[in-house]
Amino acid sequence: MADVARMTDTALYALPETAECQRVAHWLALHGWSEGSGGNFSVRLDALPATLASLNEGEPRPVPMAVPALGRRHLLVSGTGTRARDIAEAPHEGLGLFRIAPDGGSYTFLAGNDRPTSEMPSHLAIHAALVETRPEHRAIVHTHPPRLIAATHLSEFEDGGRMADVLLRMQSEALLHLPDGFAVLPYHLPGSLELGIASAAAVRRCEVVVWRYHGALATGRSLDAALDTLEYLDKTAEIYWILRSAGITPEGIPAAAAEQALRAFGRWDRYARWRPE
Ligand code: 13P
Ligand code: ZN
Repeated sequence: MADVARMTDTALYALPETAECQRVAHWLALHGWSEGSGGNFSVRLDALPATLASLNEGEPRPVPMAVPALGRRHLLVSGTGTRARDIAEAPHEGLGLFRIAPDGGSYTFLAGNDRPTSEMPSHLAIHAALVETRPEHRAIVHTHPPRLIAATHLSEFEDGGRMADVLLRMQSEALLHLPDGFAVLPYHLPGSLELGIASAAAVRRCEVVVWRYHGALATGRSLDAALDTLEYLDKTAEIYWILRSAGITPEGIPAAAAEQALRAFGRWDRYARWRPE
């Protein structure tokens, strides 16, 4: 039995996605965004190496909302209550591998940590939306960047479109990296299906979703790419608060300069679709 567990751990370690989880967990902890067990992440695997594909499955667990788009696919998911800093050191203890049933109505545990994140409803709903809208995005990172969360407390940012426009015009690279802006959801109960459904609807339009008073999530081709996106966005919130703390209300990159840059990179149309008047 112990030998089987050891072989499974070895197979889990051999996945390139596991090394990526380690790397990203390390940075989430270093950034101070994933305090305690705050935050979670997952990667979709469409095929598994034979050593993992042949593992015995646990009992089927119902999903809160059927996700047929994920049928027969696998998710490598951070465990509930696990610390990013611990996953960085011992990934097989914090990460779990799960297989979605062919009809998308349940999932089974395969290896690693068998207690997935409490935000599993969101991860499942978002991955299902990604398969349909941009299947190359296989990764989701959810974390708690304090400067971004602080901005969601401002009454002037009650309008999420305004918050996205003001923050993204704090820094030119951020604007170019996020021409679709980001969605800001009203407060929802953490771990709820309601939060998952709202987030899945939002990722069909943009790569970042801010959860008011809670945190943010990004999708990406890889966990590293999703973390990059959150770093670009966090930088804008940092600049915003530096200026506000100095008593300055930042005006941001002038509209004409923003338009020129976005047009130069062929991204103007994407920004023009959502920017507030
Ligand atoms: P988990 O430890 O269950 O992943 O929860 C952390 C979190 O950030 C919930 O939103
Ligand atoms: Zn959270």
